[in-house]
Amino acid sequence: PVMDDLAGRQQRELRLAQRLGIEHCTIVPGDSSAVNGGLSGMAAAAAKVLADRLPAGKSTVAVMGGHTLATLAQALTPALAMNRQLLFVPARGGVGESPAIQANTVCAQMAQQTNSTYRQLYIPEQLTTATYQPLFAEPSIHEVLQLIDRSNVVVHGIGLALDMAERRKMTPHEVADLTAAHAVGEAFGHFFDDEGHVVSKIPRIGLEIDDLAKKPVVIAVAGGSEKGTAIAAYMQLAPSQTWLITDDGAADFVLKR
Ligand code: G3H
Repeated sequence: PVMDDLAGRQQRELRLAQRLGIEHCTIVPGDSSAVNGGLSGMAAAAAKVLADRLPAGKSTVAVMGGHTLATLAQALTPALAMNRQLLFVPARGGVGESPAIQANTVCAQMAQQTNSTYRQLYIPEQLTTATYQPLFAEPSIHEVLQLIDRSNVVVHGIGLALDMAERRKMTPHEVADLTAAHAVGEAFGHFFDDEGHVVSKIPRIGLEIDDLAKKPVVIAVAGGSEKGTAIAAYMQLAPSQTWLITDDGAADFVLKR
């Protein structure tokens, strides 16, 4: 039965990857949306995928924030950087979310856990475009932006649209707009609907979904039955080389649709 379970799981991973139109899926047991569910199973699986997939030698790893990614950071060990030189950078600027789960924090944490180096990007959220422009030219910021641009690995989460709107302290008016546009999910500051149409973008500095096409290694970590719709929607925008690490909660939801 253990072998059957394993074969069955691999079958489901294959079906899910086909359904989502991406290269590979890893499905861990459980449902992180459930009361007794957690993120540690996905974190451990994602840590293993990184160990298997990061090339030897130098890599620049751009990471997003969120609880899932923060849990993944805790699961990393120095073994990941054994035959590699890793530089971690936040994939996007934006200091607005709670400090523990900001991309900057996750990035520093991943570097610490693997004895690697990191850079930070301190850009306040909700700046006007006029304020952004001169910031791009600021040498310390420009340098980190170039590192982000040249990163060869991206690791990110996928959020629920309204959760993310709340976390990012969007105004009631903006939230009403998102609801009217039927936004279901968020990734990289892009809000999208069920069909994968981007309905709103937070103007921030860093990676855009379109930039992912040229990244050799793209790893998404997101699970839970509650996120099923958001995950399926995002995968319509995702580059095909994406690997998804998810759980039964989200996988069952998507495969039963
Ligand atoms: O952009 C995606 C979100 O950061 C995911 O956050 O892992 O806390 O649900 P989460």
